[in-house]
Amino acid sequence: MTLDTPTLESTRAALRAKLHGIVPEFEVDLKAELAYRINCLKAERGAVILGHNYMEPALFHSVCDYTGDSLELSRVAATTEADPIVFCGVRFMAETAKILNPERTVLLPALRAGCSLAESITAEDVRGLRARYPDAPIVAYINTYADVKAEVDVCCTSSNAAKVVESLDSDLVIFLPDEYLAKNVARETGKTIVLPSTAPVSADARAEAAGNGVHYDIVGWTGRCEVHEKFTVEDVQAVREQFPDVVVLAHPECSPEVVDVSDFSGSTAAMTRYVREIEAPRYLLLTECSMGDNIAAEAPDKEMVRLCSVRCPHMNEITLEHVLASLRENREQIEVPEDIRVRARRSIDRMLEIG
Ligand code: 13P
Ligand code: SF4
Repeated sequence: MTLDTPTLESTRAALRAKLHGIVPEFEVDLKAELAYRINCLKAERGAVILGHNYMEPALFHSVCDYTGDSLELSRVAATTEADPIVFCGVRFMAETAKILNPERTVLLPALRAGCSLAESITAEDVRGLRARYPDAPIVAYINTYADVKAEVDVCCTSSNAAKVVESLDSDLVIFLPDEYLAKNVARETGKTIVLPSTAPVSADARAEAAGNGVHYDIVGWTGRCEVHEKFTVEDVQAVREQFPDVVVLAHPECSPEVVDVSDFSGSTAAMTRYVREIEAPRYLLLTECSMGDNIAAEAPDKEMVRLCSVRCPHMNEITLEHVLASLRENREQIEVPEDIRVRARRSIDRMLEIG
């Protein structure tokens, strides 16, 4: 063992220092023991652990080789030579890793770890929209399953959604499945969003409407993130009344009204960078609550205003216990049928080329 090899004592000390005041010490000590065992097994197996920003703080700060938002982790997953890839995130993220790096074993340390957005649309739904709007390119948020990605033209994440939409040379774009994200993107790009029931189907009808000053630029869907839809304008107003100097950050899966009364909106990674850089003494995060704890651990000099604790139940399925079992027993292995993988990869690659 070299001087740099973490021991149980050094793992515990590092985690105690990082999570002081955020996680009770007895809990940190229990989790440090699990983290130590995971890190030993990870080294033995040559594995890499990727952790989404929504992982619980002890896991996030102890076993992950890379942490980040969906886009950052997809890029790492695409190029890593380590095997297996243990994806501490939800199923659509682990699937994306498998699509991008099929030679590797990709493990999801949970049985299901779904996502209300990914569950809100099927490949059949996309085929229906394609038949209805044959001339409109289809963009899918990365929070979709592989068979949906296989049916669309390009994917996007919360960090590049507006850029992807702007790159498409078409009077009409279909953006799936997050209604709120689509509305936020429409506003950012100056486009108008409608739902499939109201947008004219033919290009001629749209041209005629445009002649009358009515534009149909983005056709959305009615998926919602079950976490971000809970934040309200009233929540923000109440916090601003109590703390007039608070800086409010909202994930773009929040409603456009909530984004409107916030100071900044961006992906989980963009929000983390923003908090690091602001000089304001306190901030409010309108996103999943473990991410708040992870940022609070990174920025102890600033006060995080605790509005409420909305934990993503799907991200919550990933625990240190499950990560250890996953590495020991090689489960749950993610598989994507090859014909779907190849078509889904095309949509993801297009996104990665755009940025
Ligand atoms: P990010 O890509 O911003 O990390 O978002 C993923 C997600 O699921 C947010 O709810
Ligand atoms: Fe899905 Fe919302 Fe959970 Fe993100 S926070 S994984 S969008 S349910």
